[in-house]
Amino acid sequence: MPKRPEQLRSHRWLGVNDLRAFGHRSRLMQMGYERSDFAGKPVIGIFNTWSDINPCHAHFRMRAEEVKRGIWQAGGFPLELPAMTLSEPFQKPTTMLYRNLLAMEVEEGVRSYPIDGAVLMGGCDKTGPALLMGAISADVPAIFVPAGPMLRGNWRGGILGSGSDTWKFWDEKRAGNITEADWREIEGGIARSHGICMTMGTAATMTAVIEAMGFSLPGASSIPAPDSNHPRMATASGRRIVEMVWEDLVPSRILGPAAVDNGIAVHQAMGGSTNGIIHIIAIARRAGIALTLERFDEMSQRVPVLANVRPSGAFLMEDFYYAGGLRALMAAMGGLLDGSCLTVTGRTLGEGLEGARSHAHDVIRPLSNPVYPRGGTAVLHGNLAPDGAVMKPSAAEPRLLAHQGPALVFDSYAEMKAVIDDEALDVTADHVLVLRNAGPQGGPGMPEWGMLPIPGKLVRRGLRDMLRLSDARMSGTSYGACVLHVAPEAHVGGPLALVRNGDVIAVDVAARRLDLLVADEELARRRAGWVPPPPRYGRGYGAMFARHVSQASDGCDFDFLAPGARTPEPEIN
Ligand code: FES
Repeated sequence: MPKRPEQLRSHRWLGVNDLRAFGHRSRLMQMGYERSDFAGKPVIGIFNTWSDINPCHAHFRMRAEEVKRGIWQAGGFPLELPAMTLSEPFQKPTTMLYRNLLAMEVEEGVRSYPIDGAVLMGGCDKTGPALLMGAISADVPAIFVPAGPMLRGNWRGGILGSGSDTWKFWDEKRAGNITEADWREIEGGIARSHGICMTMGTAATMTAVIEAMGFSLPGASSIPAPDSNHPRMATASGRRIVEMVWEDLVPSRILGPAAVDNGIAVHQAMGGSTNGIIHIIAIARRAGIALTLERFDEMSQRVPVLANVRPSGAFLMEDFYYAGGLRALMAAMGGLLDGSCLTVTGRTLGEGLEGARSHAHDVIRPLSNPVYPRGGTAVLHGNLAPDGAVMKPSAAEPRLLAHQGPALVFDSYAEMKAVIDDEALDVTADHVLVLRNAGPQGGPGMPEWGMLPIPGKLVRRGLRDMLRLSDARMSGTSYGACVLHVAPEAHVGGPLALVRNGDVIAVDVAARRLDLLVADEELARRRAGWVPPPPRYGRGYGAMFARHVSQASDGCDFDFLAPGARTPEPEIN
């Protein structure tokens, strides 16, 4: 039974005949709208994370107009609401510090204004999870318009991938294998168009996961940003959100445990970014689903990596789109997904996959010939990570998946950076590089420092991977034997705080173990002498963040944003 106009949220602002509604209507007319433009129509808030400082969303000004076109076509009333942009390349110390702030902005933006439905325009790393978390908490109909990947990078006829090739050629430059002039040419060729990183970074991972959970039109996340299919998808999303309002198709009807599992399964099959684990936990918990790290490990045992995309594979997101995109990947996954889950289309996930198939079996592999036989995630536990740590085995050199070596410990990124290229640094290929105080509170915000650089003297001798361990995150475009998200973090007294240079660290990915081979009595002695560091921030948002953020294993959300407690609709008087 579709909603009636007087059941719209916005009716309280615009549809009644009182002094306040007169004010609201007259102010819309102040902007040149006729009463017939909005009377009795769903008001759609377009949360647009466009900004001059976000290259991945440079096309969103135009796309917002295309979304509006669809909203008008379907009989809705669009209102664009600029939302905080989280620009991965520029925002420091890390966009992750601000993910929850954007989520709050969306939730409160919906709640405090006459919004009946929301279009969520995002893509660059944390924007997608943030927008969706806010919409889940607000629980008004919401559709996600993904920014789409940028085109392949190019250098002298060769293909360049976001992030991955930056790290790769930086090491080649440090090793003296390319010149400064080469490096500058690469700088001008690696990001050729607007759109998100075209490797399997956090953005490509999360836009796919959000689609798999049911929040985008089928196939939307794979369309390259400059492709003409992209504006058509934006317009279709605008049309669809209006229908969703009449159908009252709210996030709580879409996101149940099976839809979350679909998101995790796609995360694994894509060889997705480790950052995705934190975001999926946070998204699920906003919906009241008690997701833990263990579910990722379980799903990882069942779901192989099928997307042959860098850094786990060979191709880029543009190739992935031409091979059939996410619909083809999900079709190839077959029974690993629950096709009965409802999506924003009002139809099931399975119905949205009808006719989908891979057009390039080297890019989107069949189950019979995966890129990697297990999923992209290993969750490790042990005396160094009682609450867990994660690793992406598919992006590491296999010899390092079972390794023991002496620790070389850095207390901060600055300390590491100051000495890492020093020829006198006492380090061998067997060492385990440890970075601590880079977690949710220590970073703060868990900066993407987890892919510690290989020490310069080892790079010059040809070494390209070694075991690294931290309470930080790493970019999804990064690679290597990096154990990340160690929880609890060192800054709050996790065991990582007790490691000393020369202690032996043992990693056994097959056994899912991460251990510090130091006697319990010695660790207890060290703990007794441990002094908590002072808080990073004395005031402001940073202080609030530190007081309320959870550890990586719990999704790094704020405790006061957990679902359950009552949040009233605003009084209109
Ligand atoms: Fe924006 Fe990678 S920097 S998606």
